Amino acid sequence: MSGELSPIDKAKFVAAKRSVDFVEDGMRVGLGTGSTAAWMVRCLGELVRDEGLKIRGVPTSTRTAELARDVGIEVISLDEAKWLDITIDGADEFDSELNLIKGGGGALLQEKIVATASDQMIVIADIGKQVGTLGAFPLPVELIPFGWQTTKSLLEEFLISMDVLRRDTTLRMNGSRPYVTDEGNYILDLHLGRIGNARQLASVLNQIPGVVENGLFMDICDIVVLGHGDGRVETRDINEGTVEEDRLDFVESENVFSDLQD
Ligand code: A5P
Repeated sequence: MSGELSPIDKAKFVAAKRSVDFVEDGMRVGLGTGSTAAWMVRCLGELVRDEGLKIRGVPTSTRTAELARDVGIEVISLDEAKWLDITIDGADEFDSELNLIKGGGGALLQEKIVATASDQMIVIADIGKQVGTLGAFPLPVELIPFGWQTTKSLLEEFLISMDVLRRDTTLRMNGSRPYVTDEGNYILDLHLGRIGNARQLASVLNQIPGVVENGLFMDICDIVVLGHGDGRVETRDINEGTVEEDRLDFVESENVFSDLQD
């Protein structure tokens, strides 16, 4: 089965596999959304099933909740957990300070709430997610549907004074209808090219009435686990200032590799 995976999928898999080493018995674990996070949920499911790991998971989307239950992870709500020991999630971009763009999969709101309510956030990614400056990936912004076009116009006004390369905005669609998030909101993707001051932009966006949250994760991520297609994994810890490298053997596992939806 592993022979069918692309180098990017292998990179995502080894990052996910390495990241579950951080999860210990009894932990409350935030479960991210996306294709890399789906590998991680499957790897955790294996540990629960084969090694009796006892964890409770708080998913960041309905699709992650479904997958977690399918692989045997006990799912609880964030309010039941109250606080989390660790969250493991993917990202669309990360920079050298481990600031992120997230929300390509549409789950940024729950992802940000869950990551913020965690002692530690670990991002799992392939090398393609690493950037010098955030912004090549369109920045998702979650909007209340009420008056969304007015909110969009206001947001575009604010963008004029921001240090960005481009200022195109598009409503995310699902076929002929607006894409709707788990919270019933819309997503506006901001095509900015380069974000000169991500901290300022994140703060300005969230001051606009009608904006629920934006996909810039500033000072939230503690560790990036970066996978490579040949099995090498780099673990960068921003707080400790350390970088560790190891290599994972690519072991085929029917359960982990079957029927990924994301
Ligand atoms: C989901 O809303 C996103 O934040 C994902 O974490 C991000 O898009 C990464 O997804 P992949 O792991 O599929 O690249």
